[in-house]
Amino acid sequence: MSKSFLLGSLGWVLAVCCLIGGGWTQSLQAKGWDREPVQPLPVCTRLFQDKVRLGRQLFHEVRLSFNNSQSCADCHPLHRWGADGQRHSRKADGSQTVMNTPTVYNVRYYIAQFWNGRVRTLQDQVEEAVRLEMGSQWPEVVSKLAQDASYRQSFAQIYSDGLQAANVRDALAEFMRSLLLVNSRFDRYLRGESNAITPLEQEGYRLFKEVGCVACHQGVNLGGNLLQKSGIFLRRAVEEPVNTSVQERVEADRFQLTGNEEDREVFKVPALRLVTRTAPYFHDGSLPTVEEAVGRMAQLQLGRSLNQADIAKIVAFFHTLEGSLAGECR
Ligand code: HEC
Ligand code: HEC
Repeated sequence: MSKSFLLGSLGWVLAVCCLIGGGWTQSLQAKGWDREPVQPLPVCTRLFQDKVRLGRQLFHEVRLSFNNSQSCADCHPLHRWGADGQRHSRKADGSQTVMNTPTVYNVRYYIAQFWNGRVRTLQDQVEEAVRLEMGSQWPEVVSKLAQDASYRQSFAQIYSDGLQAANVRDALAEFMRSLLLVNSRFDRYLRGESNAITPLEQEGYRLFKEVGCVACHQGVNLGGNLLQKSGIFLRRAVEEPVNTSVQERVEADRFQLTGNEEDREVFKVPALRLVTRTAPYFHDGSLPTVEEAVGRMAQLQLGRSLNQADIAKIVAFFHTLEGSLAGECR
């Protein structure tokens, strides 16, 4: 059994535990979501609001980058569904990212972060983003923020050890946990509002299941809980990287982490919640439209070719998936 498969199954088990732990068992049974491969996101969050506020400020803080030129929000603009829409984003040092920038919404339920799932926690994800995308060293970041009395005060109020790199990462992680887009029309449909989505959109969901997309795009995020090969039936045309900087070796497929041949072109299955909003598509941003991405997926992963009408139905279903920002649970 491959490591990817094991990791994937583990995520699934974890996801199920989270659902049960969240006290959803009863309502799951009542509404019959347990028979569906896609589940609704929880409707509200329970988070440490002071950390969320501090994290939001840090998310927009250019001093996290080595030359004070860039914040997380430059590549992940929150008013643009959490991704900048570029094929490759510009980093603080002016060079380009290797991978396409994914959204920061709904990331808390992923089995692991980044396209190749190389880190497990949001804290570790922040650790890397600050070094690799923003070109900073952590001691520098902490000393720049410490010059600001309001940061010193905010950190001291929340954390017994005050302003520390680990606490910067913790606050940013807590903020990202708040970025949940909930109560989508599709979630309402799953919860029993049968007319929350149109017959065409229902047909799209039926096709999405029937064709086999749900084998990989499933759970609360329609992805994010498995690692899979991109190109199971058809090998993807792969562009070899032009040079092998540290970043290019890290930001790549799973093979770059494990060295196992079977992990070539293996990625975390991307979530599809905001898929109509986050063009371009695939880890390399190589496909400009969602219709092309759907058609290509059917060929690559399932060995099928879908006609334009079927693609349009699946895309219509995708339009039902995005929700609005979750509030605090009361
Ligand atoms: C220069 C643009 C850029 C900046 C600045 C940036 N990111 Fe990213 N972000 C990316 C790219 C590109 C990836 C995908 C890299 C990969 O998977 O190898 C990514 C991945 C992520 C992910 C993982 C999402 C997933 O689908 O696995 C999260 C979460 C994230 N970034 C949050 C942040 C935070 C928080 C900051 C600020 C500390 C930040 N990013 C700064 C471009 C950027
Ligand atoms: C065997 C697993 C698997 C199956 C089956 C599968 N996908 Fe995917 N899907 C993936 C992986 C892995 C990627 C990432 C591909 C890449 O970046 O090269 C992906 C990417 C996508 C993307 C692009 C998302 C983005 O943000 O870039 C879309 C859209 C998509 N899939 C839709 C579908 C549809 C529709 C089907 C059914 C026709 C389907 N997938 C079937 C694994 C799968």
